[in-house]
Amino acid sequence: MKVFIASDHAGFELKEAIKQHFSSQYEWVDFGTHSSESVDYPDFAHPLAEAVSKDPAARAILICGTGNGVAMTANKHANVRAALCWDREIAALARQHNNANVLVMPARFILPETAFDLVETFFSTDFEGGRHERRVEKINLR
Ligand code: RB5
Repeated sequence: MKVFIASDHAGFELKEAIKQHFSSQYEWVDFGTHSSESVDYPDFAHPLAEAVSKDPAARAILICGTGNGVAMTANKHANVRAALCWDREIAALARQHNNANVLVMPARFILPETAFDLVETFFSTDFEGGRHERRVEKINLR
């Protein structure tokens, strides 16, 4: 299974840890950054979000210090629903209710073990549809 992933410098170490932890399960498409040198998060979140926008069924992960910068950036793109998640229930609900297609995590506020759990939860939880379908449809501006 192919997964898009990107981070800024604050998320770099966690991005690498996630890639390593799931190396036998996922084929990573890494949009950078590739070191802990300071960078601007939109330079990495925009290219990933553009790829998801063209392929909304894609699986994707974005990481920065708080998660907010990359989430705000990604959610500018049509068909992208990037959800900031820091515990398992929020990650599950982001899939069940919001059909989120980008898992966003705050590297400076969660442990790597929590991040691994969020990745597993997010990618193994299905959208519930039903009443949530109508609400998700209304997110897009026409
Ligand atoms: C970088 O210092 C930090 O501002 C960034 O990772 C992120 O938290 C922004 O939202």
